[in-house]
Amino acid sequence: MTAAAGDIEKAAGVLRDGGLVAFPTETVYGLGADASDPAAVSRIFQAKGRPPTHPLIVHVAGAEHLDGWVEKVPEPARLLAEQFWPGPLTLVLRRGPRASLAATGGLETVGVRVPDHPVALALLSAFGGGAAAPSANRFGSVSPTTADHVRAELGDAVDFVLDGGPCQVGVESTIVDATGDTLSVLRPGGVAREDLEAVLGFSLEVPSASPIRVPGQHPSHYAPRARVVLVEPDQVVAEAERAQGLGHQVGVFLPPSHDGAPPEVRAVVAVPASPAEYARGLYGFLRELDRQGCDLIVASLPEEKGLGLAIANRLRRAAGPRP
Ligand code: TXA
Ligand code: MG
Repeated sequence: MTAAAGDIEKAAGVLRDGGLVAFPTETVYGLGADASDPAAVSRIFQAKGRPPTHPLIVHVAGAEHLDGWVEKVPEPARLLAEQFWPGPLTLVLRRGPRASLAATGGLETVGVRVPDHPVALALLSAFGGGAAAPSANRFGSVSPTTADHVRAELGDAVDFVLDGGPCQVGVESTIVDATGDTLSVLRPGGVAREDLEAVLGFSLEVPSASPIRVPGQHPSHYAPRARVVLVEPDQVVAEAERAQGLGHQVGVFLPPSHDGAPPEVRAVVAVPASPAEYARGLYGFLRELDRQGCDLIVASLPEEKGLGLAIANRLRRAAGPRP
């Protein structure tokens, strides 16, 4: 789906005037502002209810537009950019002068990415600058994968919503820290770690806890209203029925391995066998179970390879302790 040319021009104008534009990417919808304008960037934090020390990703129209946003692009990062951009990969590099400290949360590094979505690329080209854009949801909640999700969650806090249809990847970008001598994955996402390693020719560190503030690494992120409980795949049905029997309104993520009758609970989601389809649907499933009035979601983790690593990461965060 492509937005009308008039809408792109209008949205680019909003960015130039220091406003907020929600726009589609291949991963999730972003809430964008001019990354070089601290006042515009601060409106993002307000709209999301996000602490201002949490760094944002700067989106540009192509690797050739990185001048000024980053200091330099080390060789391994260049290789990854060449191979995976446009695409669901964010590179953390040393900050250039155009990236305002408001956008980097005060850090001397900056996350940059070229999204693989025609509407996002048209917007960034028309705008000409870099758009700082976190996922277009309230801090801590489920990322939006349709324009309706954005409107439902942020409403009037956004000046303009560009509708580019449902997101095709469905989970956020993979974040690779390329500032040091060794590369590490700060957040698993839409590009599989195995694919990055195949291009690099060496393996990537996946630190369990980053010393840098990465909201995605805090407990209870990407969380629906309903509480999420994770059990082994062969325990999902029994646990769901037990909780429903205790008086919960249970939503269940039925694993692809399940055969036989679905459990008698409030709502059932049949998890797609294909990891790509599962990733695409994940946030919509969580939202749908909230909408159906579930207060408890019983799910299991997929195999943690390929996109399964990102899906498992999001489910663990959704199941994390609530503040
Ligand atoms: O797919 C995506 O990455 C989406 C779309 C809109 O591009 N964006 C997204 O943004 O997920 P957000 O803000 O929800 O998550 C960005 C993550 C945060 O966890 C943040 O801490 C991390 O990127 N990040 C950004 N800049 C960083 C930096 N300089 N160092 C370490 N982590 C950084
Ligand atoms: Mg987010």
